[in-house]
Amino acid sequence: MATFEVNGKAVTVDVEDDMPLLWVLRDELGLTGSKYGCGIAMCGACTVHLDGEAVRSCVLPVSAIEGRRVTTIEGLSKNGDHPVQKAWVDLQVPQCGYCQSGQIMTAVSLLAKDKKPTDATIDTAMSNLCRCGTYPRIRAAIHRAAKSV
Ligand code: FES
Ligand code: FES
Repeated sequence: MATFEVNGKAVTVDVEDDMPLLWVLRDELGLTGSKYGCGIAMCGACTVHLDGEAVRSCVLPVSAIEGRRVTTIEGLSKNGDHPVQKAWVDLQVPQCGYCQSGQIMTAVSLLAKDKKPTDATIDTAMSNLCRCGTYPRIRAAIHRAAKSV
């Protein structure tokens, strides 16, 4: 059993303590925007925010988030109009799209700490993998979003 906040709402789930947060989000709460890629904290497809920090939810046991605040891609903005989401649309960043919710959540977390990241800072912070190779457009979209966050 765990009680925490997801996208501004308190939730209680009756699951094993070691169930990863990603499974709780997708299978128990129906929030399927966060994706399963590797399951070992390598690819970043499962990235959500925990108390505002980007974390990889595939390796985070639900017991570790008791009483804490989780934000998923579904809760980032009401109408998909967060500045980072708008920049992603404007520059048509996604290809297959599978990695993109994780990329966006990592980018939002980066811009919360660094309002004007350099290319080098972006490349270091954006460790999420994209098998479609959208990295140049991700970088451009982060620079675009940086003008309005
Ligand atoms: S699925 Fe979590 S990092 Fe790959
Ligand atoms: S857009 Fe296809 S994996 Fe990133």
